[in-house]
Amino acid sequence: MLRSILRSSTSNASRRGFASGASPERKVAILGAAGGIGQPLSLLMKLNPLVSRLALYDIAGTPGVAADVSHINTGSEVVGYMGDENLGKALEGSDVVIIPAGVPRKPGMTRDDLFNINAGIVKSLCTAIAKYCPNALVNMISNPVNSTVPIAAEVFKMAGTYDEKRLFGVTTLDVVRAKTFYAGKAKVNVAEVNVPVVGGHAGITILPLFSQATPKANLSDDEIVALTKRTQDGGTEVVEAKAGKGSATLSMAYAGAVFADACLKGLNGAPDVVECSFVQSTVTELPFFASKVRIGKNGVEEVLGLGALSDFEKEGLEKLKPELKASIEKGIKFAHQN
Ligand code: NAI
Repeated sequence: MLRSILRSSTSNASRRGFASGASPERKVAILGAAGGIGQPLSLLMKLNPLVSRLALYDIAGTPGVAADVSHINTGSEVVGYMGDENLGKALEGSDVVIIPAGVPRKPGMTRDDLFNINAGIVKSLCTAIAKYCPNALVNMISNPVNSTVPIAAEVFKMAGTYDEKRLFGVTTLDVVRAKTFYAGKAKVNVAEVNVPVVGGHAGITILPLFSQATPKANLSDDEIVALTKRTQDGGTEVVEAKAGKGSATLSMAYAGAVFADACLKGLNGAPDVVECSFVQSTVTELPFFASKVRIGKNGVEEVLGLGALSDFEKEGLEKLKPELKASIEKGIKFAHQN
């Protein structure tokens, strides 16, 4: 297989000129950058003025993606890295590592069906992260997130680099969907909508808290049940519509870019950066759980509680726990056995 590194033509001088001012230099690495999510996510991160260096890594296809993205006249330097032997160089010095590497779902598959392939990919990528950029904030997109985040945590623990403040499962797409679906039903401006989504990132483990949604709207119980189900099945809606050509890529790239931007803002010391994320948690009895998280200079500054839940949400919370617990345990077991 061809291995190569491609550097963009953007000069350091012009890059510094653009990225100057208050924000420090930040390097972001995307692992799986040539994929369905990776490509539009690379584009969106190239548009982010907080990024000064963008490392695009994949096992194939990155020279083309990097050449293409590098022609965009924003200040960041883009470098494409292909193949295992270039992974270390891609990771070195990274402040944020985003992982959309792995296979996506086809119709009829659950996220757990991806486990066997993606667990191995995540394990090897995290082993390299522990070696080359142990202090980076890791944004895990690869599914099943409910298991891949625990795998990453175990790999980092075994390497002696684990810092629970620096590991995030990206559940932002669930929030993006909940906001869109709620705004449509409540007939409110989607730009003003906030909806926390807690639990995990698969089926019933996705628990949108519409009782806390703002702006408030008078939705019936049936409407809340339908909105909850649509949010939980949002990924499947896309998988079926794409009819065998993969899962959500464009909306996921957007969500991934929103979350990575929050991490960069937090690292740079912006106040009140709060996003939902699947993190190590004591909010419930489960060791990992998605809830609102305050992100700061060291990653997770605070894992926020769930707030008041409706009876329907309390019921959903109890129902999701056994499935989420099993997915977490499956990830931990995999990390130690393979
Ligand atoms: P894709 O198949 O289009 O792209 C995956 C990319 O990963 C490919 O370019 C492939 O070459 C690369 N890859 C495979 N092994 C690798 C390795 N060892 N190192 C680096 N790159 C490697 O898949 P797509 O649609 O981009 O999805 C990627 C992942 O994101 C899937 O696991 C999918 O289930 C997950 N996903 C997560 C969502 C979330 O909300 N967290 C939403 C949608 C998808």
